[in-house]
Amino acid sequence: MKKILVTGGAGFIGSHTVIELVGRGFIPVIADNFSNSDRRVTDGLTSILGHRPETVMIDCTDSGAMERLFADHGFHAVIHFAAFKAVGESVTDPLRYYRNNLLTTQVVLECMRTYGVRHLVFSSSCTVYGQPDSLPVTEQSPLKPPVSPYGYTKQVCEHMVCDFVSAEPGFSAGLLRYFNPVGAHPSGLNGELPYGVPSNLVPFITQTAAGLRPALTIFGSDYATPDGTCIRDYIHVTDLAGAHVRALDWLEANPGKCEAFNLGQGRGHSVKEVIDTFERVTGQHVPVVMGPRRAGDVEQIWAEVTKANRALNWHTELGLEVALADAWRWQQYVNTLPAP
Ligand code: UFG
Repeated sequence: MKKILVTGGAGFIGSHTVIELVGRGFIPVIADNFSNSDRRVTDGLTSILGHRPETVMIDCTDSGAMERLFADHGFHAVIHFAAFKAVGESVTDPLRYYRNNLLTTQVVLECMRTYGVRHLVFSSSCTVYGQPDSLPVTEQSPLKPPVSPYGYTKQVCEHMVCDFVSAEPGFSAGLLRYFNPVGAHPSGLNGELPYGVPSNLVPFITQTAAGLRPALTIFGSDYATPDGTCIRDYIHVTDLAGAHVRALDWLEANPGKCEAFNLGQGRGHSVKEVIDTFERVTGQHVPVVMGPRRAGDVEQIWAEVTKANRALNWHTELGLEVALADAWRWQQYVNTLPAP
């Protein structure tokens, strides 16, 4: 069975991808320094999988430790998630973002070259499009200046990966541009567990509904959208995770290629719509206050996903309602966990 290195595999998307990999007969090896993920995540994974996935506590910027990891395993491919991802924090501490996000990618590529691991799935983001001129965005849409240092790190890493693939015959890479991943595993045993105050919408909604936060602030209600709040393309994390496994097949069939794929639901929802949908599907009330716009937010973005549908033979199966119900189930489970 093929071993897949999953850097950042204890994170939100990484951990769901580990579940999908096991389901497809791969052996995932998680490499994570737990800087932004809770160790209890691997307990939930163990319950879902029936065994504890191999997990190596490692900082992916540590080239010596990464070399040893590659030497010990004989990986078939790498799925590289390990990165910081909070847009606002990247504005206040850009060097931390450039160092971590660029260096982890560089070290991963160097190790792949040294050990002849030829396939890479890179965790990118719709943030590389900035505020697009027309919607939906396709993979051919121009990459505008990102609105945050986080966005720049994703753009630079995409270039780094494709330059590397051009220089190394037989290597291939897929740049998966995520729109807004939400939801949780349907078991309610795996989900998003941010440290401290969540910066993303859905964890903030579920924590507010659970009474852990007094109210949710809507960041801006004066945008040029039908209800004045920002529009995003929310995708169930299980659907998103499945695309990574499909991408492994594509990589094997396409040596020498480095291509981007949009991964979203293909339609937009406003912040207000997400809150209303959550209240409807869960029966929970979410107290809301209106606040100013958040620095770094684009007004609206959603994806054209035809390329991923065709090339990866991948389609989303779960909608926003399922995602929000699953996220609420996960929040209720988290409420029962002992303190870390
Ligand atoms: N929002 C609120 N109140 C909150 C949190 C969010 O109104 O308390 C709004 C935001 O202003 C935005 C929408 O909800 O309009 C979604 O915000 P998120 O923070 O959940 O996600 P972003 O759209 O900001 O996504 C960004 C990047 C992605 C990245 C993601 C992960 O664009 O590339 O953050 O942090 F993956």
